[in-house]
Amino acid sequence: APTQSLKGKKVTITAGPTREALDPVRYLSNHSSGKMGFAIAAAAARAGADVTLIAGPVRLDTPAGVQRVDVVSTNDMLKAAEQAADDCDLFIAAAAVVDFRPAVIATQKIKKEDGNDSDALTLVKNPDIVATIAARVERRPFVVGFAAETEKVVEHAAQKLARKNLDMIIANDVSNPEGGFNSDRNEVMVIDHSGQQPLPAALKTELAAELVALIAARAFPHN
Ligand code: PMT
Repeated sequence: APTQSLKGKKVTITAGPTREALDPVRYLSNHSSGKMGFAIAAAAARAGADVTLIAGPVRLDTPAGVQRVDVVSTNDMLKAAEQAADDCDLFIAAAAVVDFRPAVIATQKIKKEDGNDSDALTLVKNPDIVATIAARVERRPFVVGFAAETEKVVEHAAQKLARKNLDMIIANDVSNPEGGFNSDRNEVMVIDHSGQQPLPAALKTELAAELVALIAARAFPHN
């Protein structure tokens, strides 16, 4: 039987990629399918939580009992996250947020005949959503991030945990063919200030239930 470890808790989850328009027909994005974040949303709802799922552009059905907010750009995801975090106990950032966006979005399709050079694209840095939520002094939820890494996975994830002021980080070796972007499976290392715990390769749906149980125990130890 599913435990009710998150009964009465408000949980916000970001999932999927963000997408940054260059012009009316082109964009910058990444290979996130949303599967990991949606699986966590489903598991949190089964654990009794009141779940808000902030989803970038993905092709997935909304899990049962989950309130979904669809967004496209990073700034839209930030806005939705800030609003949800105002009334939230636990914030889990599974989204693969695009770190840079075009400085200007061309109103018309960019033409190669217009003399555009190959280096004509100027990028600006996007806001960091999970770090913005974790930097709150008032109304700060328990904040869990992911770290998508291709080398020195634990070291780099631990640096992100500290730099973004998170309570917990889920290190994801995205060079592992057994998991990562768009796979149905994943294998992670959970890191917090008390240590590390590996979660072996499993379906994202199964892994999500284990993650939710682990996060609930750390975030709400007196429940
Ligand atoms: O969606 P799937 O296909 O199922 O794949 C799952 C996944 C690989 C996308 C997921 O498990 C994962 O690792 N998500 C984080 C991807 C990522 O972009 O990680 P990062 O190391 O760049 O970012 C670290 C953390 O900061 C993440 O929690 C991210 O959501 C957050 N972030 C990053 C940049 C930014 N501007 N805002 C953020 O909130």
